Amino acid sequence: MRRALSGSLSAAGAASPRPRLAHRRERLSLAPRLRPSLEQRPLVPPSAPSQRARGSRWHSGGAASAPQLTRREQDRLAARAFIVERGYTPEVAEGVVAALSAPGSGVSPGGLLDMVKMMGGRPEIGEDAGLDPLAKSVELELARQRGREVIHFTFVPPGGGDPIACEGLAGMSLKDVAEYGDGDGARVLAEFLECACSGVMACSTCQVYVHPRWSAKVGEPGDAEVDMLELAHEPRDSSRLGCQLKLAPELEGLQIEIPGGANNMFDDLTSHKVVVERT
Ligand code: FES
Repeated sequence: MRRALSGSLSAAGAASPRPRLAHRRERLSLAPRLRPSLEQRPLVPPSAPSQRARGSRWHSGGAASAPQLTRREQDRLAARAFIVERGYTPEVAEGVVAALSAPGSGVSPGGLLDMVKMMGGRPEIGEDAGLDPLAKSVELELARQRGREVIHFTFVPPGGGDPIACEGLAGMSLKDVAEYGDGDGARVLAEFLECACSGVMACSTCQVYVHPRWSAKVGEPGDAEVDMLELAHEPRDSSRLGCQLKLAPELEGLQIEIPGGANNMFDDLTSHKVVVERT
C-alpha cells in the first residue's frame, strides 16, 4: 500500500512540502513490517533475580544496583520519551520506535533518538519531517489490531468512469484514507485529494461530491466548511470537504465523486491561487 519505510526515512531529513496534485502521494509503508514489530516487547529490563544471570548485562554485581542499560536500550528509551513529549501516547511512541528498529528501516544501531528528532522537525514553526505521518500509521495499525470497524466506500474519479472501491476505518476522514489508507483505492484517492492545508479547512482541494442517496446520512457541513466550499471548484449542494467527512458505520457503502478540478485557496493565501484541472 505504501512506499517502503526505508524510503520514507531517507527523505525524512528535510521538511516535507506537500506534494502537488497528480503526483502520487508518497506513503509510509508500515503495515507489512509494523505488525510483527508492534508485538509487545518489554521496555524495561527484567528485574527478577533469576533473570540476572551471571554475565548478563543486567547483572551489575550488587544486589541493590540498578540494571545497566546498554547504549541501544538507552537510545530506544530516549527516542520513546522524545515521541511522548511531542504529544503521542506511549503506545504509539513504542510502535514508532518498533517500526524504526525493524530490519531494513535504515536506522543505524543506536541512532533512534537522532532519527526521531530529525523526523520531528521544528514544531515551533509547524514543521514536521515525517514523525507525524509515521505516528498516524502506527495509530491506524493499532486501531486495526483492536478490530475497529472497516468502512467500505466508492468514488468516481474526475471525468467519470467506473467507481473505485476504497476502505478506511471508522473515524477516519477521507483525507486520512487518502494519506494513510490501505490498498489501491486509497492510493488512487490520494492522487485526487491533495489536501494542501492538511485539514484546517483553508484550501478546498479535498472537495468531494456526495451521491444524493447518501446526503442525509452524511449530514450537513458546518458553517466554516460551507465558507470554504463556496470557494471550491464548481461546488454543488452535495459538496463536502474530504478532511471533514468522517467514515462511520452508517456510511458503509458510501458513494462519492471527485470534482474535475480544485481551487487551492491555501496557496492563494500564501502566494497565488492555483487552480488545478483534473480532467
Ligand atoms: S484539506 Fe484543505 S480544506 Fe480540506
